[in-house]
Formats: sequence, structure tokens, C-alpha cells
Amino acid sequence: MSLSKPALQNDVYLRALMREPTERTPIWMMRQAGRYLPEYKATRAHAGDFMSLCKNAELACEVTMQPLRRFPLDAAILFSDILTIPDAMGLGLYFEAGEGPRFERPLRDHRAVESLGIPDPEQELRYVTDAVRTIRHELGGKVPLIGFSGSPWTLATYMVEGGSTKNFSVVKKMLFAEPQTMHLLLDKLADSVILYLNAQIAAGAQAVMVFDTWGGVLSPRDYREFSLAYMKKIVAGLTRHADGRAVPVTLFTKGGGAWLADMAASGCDALGVDWTTDMGIARQLVQDQVALQGNMDPSVLYASPQRIEEEVATILASYGQGHGHVFNLGHGIHPEVNPDHAGAFIEAVHKLSPAYHR
Ligand code: CP3
Repeated sequence: MSLSKPALQNDVYLRALMREPTERTPIWMMRQAGRYLPEYKATRAHAGDFMSLCKNAELACEVTMQPLRRFPLDAAILFSDILTIPDAMGLGLYFEAGEGPRFERPLRDHRAVESLGIPDPEQELRYVTDAVRTIRHELGGKVPLIGFSGSPWTLATYMVEGGSTKNFSVVKKMLFAEPQTMHLLLDKLADSVILYLNAQIAAGAQAVMVFDTWGGVLSPRDYREFSLAYMKKIVAGLTRHADGRAVPVTLFTKGGGAWLADMAASGCDALGVDWTTDMGIARQLVQDQVALQGNMDPSVLYASPQRIEEEVATILASYGQGHGHVFNLGHGIHPEVNPDHAGAFIEAVHKLSPAYHR
């Protein structure tokens, strides 16, 4: 498929990630396409299960566009999931209603890890790059498209546990009892993520983000050895320029507030921050080496529009004057949120942020 790529009309998100001057603070929302939108639920019902939606480029494109039709967001994010890589490695991903993701064949020993192959993104993950090409065409240069992947550690937690977990005992047992097995797995995942993100960039992704949802369950030492080291390898392996401009890389470790300075030294362009860290403190920690994304508690969207605006004001003031801030939630939007409250959130950022860019 070869589709033309028109010029970008709104690049405020890309400029903020590169800490270039902007007239206001850009905003997008993690999980902006999803079940809080009735139009998403309708498309999802039509597609059947969630993975069928991800594997159909036209439908994945449709749900990517849905939040952009409702709200003046500054970026689109590819509609897919972080668990596409383990699925392509043959683990058999499926979703049990109300239980989240599961694998038919979780990884339990060294032999299983040794026999894992590295997926070819233009073969086993072709549906993802097809979705990127379709979305880029449909966007027509309106806003940039974000590609993404899970971090090796976060992917490993699902692959070894066989699904979501509360105490991470199976994956931590492998980490401490068989550290070489864990390193082999993480290294294969890092290589897979590099190929996967580079394929998304070649297909048209204009920025990429690595979701390390579970890095925060590790001790500081284990975080550096088992999560950050592999994200660094990924950052070093990525295509950093495409179509004559930088392709910024954002790393997000949920619960990683204490490690922001270490993360900023990884070579990435920006860091995601959850709501447990004050934005002003985060900015001091990274010394303006990288841009920061975040960080409103997604639960604030249950509050009144007035309370939402107060929270936006607090976060903008905490980051302070100057560039390099991408407004977002500190984690994904909850499915029960009223879409009008998401609208009020975005409006508040548009209204209040220009004062910080004069
Ligand atoms: O941000 C976006 O709008 C892009 C889409 C996106 C999805 N998943 C769609 C999705 C992104 C970026 C992800 C990433 C993802 N997936 C992460 C990392 C980010 C995070 O939230 O921490 C993780 C840990 C996963 C794994 C996963 N996939 C989980 C835990 C679930 C939730 C299960 C549930 O029932 O809530 C999914 C499924 C999923 N991924 C949904 C969506 C919209 C819900 C599926 C549905 O329609 O029922």
C-alpha cells in the first residue's frame, strides 16, 4: 500500500516534545479511543472482539478518529494494544470478558524463552503497519500520529504471568530465581520492540511512546537492571528522523516518579509522569533535559467541570512558565467517564495554557 502523506497542519505536540516554543500546551489523552465513547462501543460491537477490531485496518482507523471528531486534540494515537508482540510470538492472546488480557501459552521456563522468535513486523504484525498507513492517510495531516509499544519488562509480566496480576509473584520468581532467563526474554523483547517501532515509523508514525505500566513494581535497583536498561536499548535502536523531522520518543513508567532523572539520561526526548509526582518537582528532577507529559489523575474526570478546570490550573502552575509540557492524564481514561467531562478538561487546557507560553 503506498499512500501519500500531506503536510502537517498542527505540530504543537511535536514541537513541545522537542522543547521548542509553542503558543499553548498541547493535549491528548491516554486511551482516548475507548469504552467511555458510545461510538467506540458501537464499532466494537460491530467488530466482535477487541483483537478483531485491532486487526481490521479500516475499523482501527475509525476508532482512532472518533475522539478527534469530538475534541480538539493535538495528536492521534494508533488504535492497537501493547500485547500484539507476545501474540505474534505465538502465546495466543485472548480477552476474557471483565478479566482483561490472557495468554493460552504463558512462558514458564528457559526452554520456552529460548524457542521464542522475533516477529517480523511486516509479516506477523502487518495488520499494525497497515493500520498506521490507513490512519495517516485518513488524518490528512490534521495532527500527528503516535505509534507505541509496551516496554520489555511490562510485556514480560503479561507473558510470564499469563495475564494481569496483582502481586507479580510468577514473573518476580523468574527474575530472582532465574535472572539469566529473564534477561534473555527481555533482550528478545527489546529487539522485537525496536523492529516493531521502526516499522511503525516507516509506515508513518510521527512520534512513539513506550508504555512501562509495571516498572513501578520493581525496586530501584531492579528497575534499572530489568526495565530501564532495555528501554535504553530501544531508544538507541530507533529511527529518530523521518520525512525531514525528528520522531520524538516518550518513555512512561507508571510509578516511576523517583527515577525520572535516570530515565531522562536514557536518550529519550520526553517522559510520561503519573499523578503521584508533582509536575514542578518532576521538572526540577529532569533539569529541562527532556519534555514532560502528564499528569492529571484520570479519576478527576469524575468531578465537576469546575473542579477539573481547577486541577488543570494547578498542574499548569506547577509545571510553570515555558515550553516542553504535553498535557495528558497520568494514566488511561476510565471507561465510566462522561465524555463531556473529557471535553471540559481539554477546553480548560486550551483556555489556561497560553498564559504560560508568553
Ligand atoms: O491510547 C489509546 O487510545 C490507544 C489504544 C491503546 C489500547 N491499549 C487500547 C485498548 C493503548 C495505547 C493500549 C496500551 C496498553 N494495553 C497498555 C499500556 C498502557 C496502560 O494502560 O497502562 C496495557 C497494560 C495494555 C494491556 C491491556 N489491553 C489491558 C490491561 C486491557 C484492558 C482490559 C479491559 O477489559 O479493560 C487491554 C484491552 C484494551 N486495549 C482496550 C482498549 C480500548 C479495551 C478493550 C475493549 O474494547 O474491551
